[in-house]
Amino acid sequence: MKKIFLNLGKQPLANSFLPSISKKTLTKEFFYNLKIAFDTKSYLVSVSNPVNPESQYTDSYAHRASESLTMRTAFAKIAKKLNKRFLPNIVMEIGSNDGVFIRNFNKKKIIAIEPCKNLARLTKKKYKTYPNFWTKSLAKKIFLKSAKADIIFSANTISHIPDLNQTLEAIEFSLSKDGVLVIEDPSLLSVIKNNSYDQFYDEHVYVFSAIAISNIVKKLNLRLFNVEKIDTHGGSFRYYICKTDAKYKKTKNLLKILKEEKKAELDQLKTYKNFSNKVKKSKKELIKIFKKLKKNNKKIISYGATYKSSTVFNYCKVGTKYIDYVTDTTLNKQGKYTPGKHIPIISPEKGMDSSVMYAFLGAWNFKKEILKKEKDFIKRGGRFITHVPSPQIISK
Ligand code: TMP
Repeated sequence: MKKIFLNLGKQPLANSFLPSISKKTLTKEFFYNLKIAFDTKSYLVSVSNPVNPESQYTDSYAHRASESLTMRTAFAKIAKKLNKRFLPNIVMEIGSNDGVFIRNFNKKKIIAIEPCKNLARLTKKKYKTYPNFWTKSLAKKIFLKSAKADIIFSANTISHIPDLNQTLEAIEFSLSKDGVLVIEDPSLLSVIKNNSYDQFYDEHVYVFSAIAISNIVKKLNLRLFNVEKIDTHGGSFRYYICKTDAKYKKTKNLLKILKEEKKAELDQLKTYKNFSNKVKKSKKELIKIFKKLKKNNKKIISYGATYKSSTVFNYCKVGTKYIDYVTDTTLNKQGKYTPGKHIPIISPEKGMDSSVMYAFLGAWNFKKEILKKEKDFIKRGGRFITHVPSPQIISK
């Protein structure tokens, strides 16, 4: 039974950056009420009322996975590891974005699935790319008469697809006998530990735990045999899943992580109720920091026009009263406005000038990379503001 434990209020689509703030654009902006639920049977945590994917993954989708060095390096590393460990002939990626993972493979091995047409166009010249949503009918079209996939990789995508059963059924159909599904998604354990409620937004229909994944795949002739903790997106898990009768044995790491999740009581509703109370406290404390700085006439900007900062700003009702502008390296976010709160976005070259004293870490998951890049800002007395794991001003 699904129990709602968190209400993050009226939210826009977190990756829908506005080209202008004209009356016409603003009246068309889509909002919905973001509520998060816990299923007391499967232990799955999900958005209680998912948005239609057709309105999210359009041909103007802004996110480019290869924008960050952290992600480029992480995908090169896992591609190498999968090649070495499983020696795949066919590798399929679901949600190939701008090709940041597939570019590490020989093009003959690759099948890419990417429903955002602007992104699919970027990879289709070199790699076999289907500009479609991942469905059972697409799986049949690709694999009914061809060799099946030895690796199906999907990073930050499976958690975005509302119809989890169909997604997994289509994957089970597409895997070779000992084929492996490898998925990476933000981990619920990290969300609870870091109080990073901004992992919840329209695209994260699910925030997975190993306990929930293990329960859900079982129903579809699949089984979880390994989990790895990874640093990306503020703490993620990499799940290894195979067909029920494939050759892989359960790893010690899987058992260890399942135990850790049990200890953190991820299978109990009370954990989520406590989390919800902490989120409310975090909102109050963050606003308090902004108010105090503004009272002292400090200029505050935000660093990274991320989906996470969209959730935070809309939940905490933080707009241009506190944040002058947002900087972001992504060209097609620059010149636009943040969803819901309509804060202008400019390039870091323009925005990180000497008048900036405080920068909210919208891209807190890239903290290491950003602090390294912005050494001079810190040296001249500039400070970052973060809300993870609790609202505070930091310099390292
Ligand atoms: P995401 O967290 O929503 O996936 O996206 C991260 C955003 O942060 C992306 O738009 C690029 C931006 N970014 C910067 O502007 N500067 C940086 O140094 C890094 C690492 C990311």
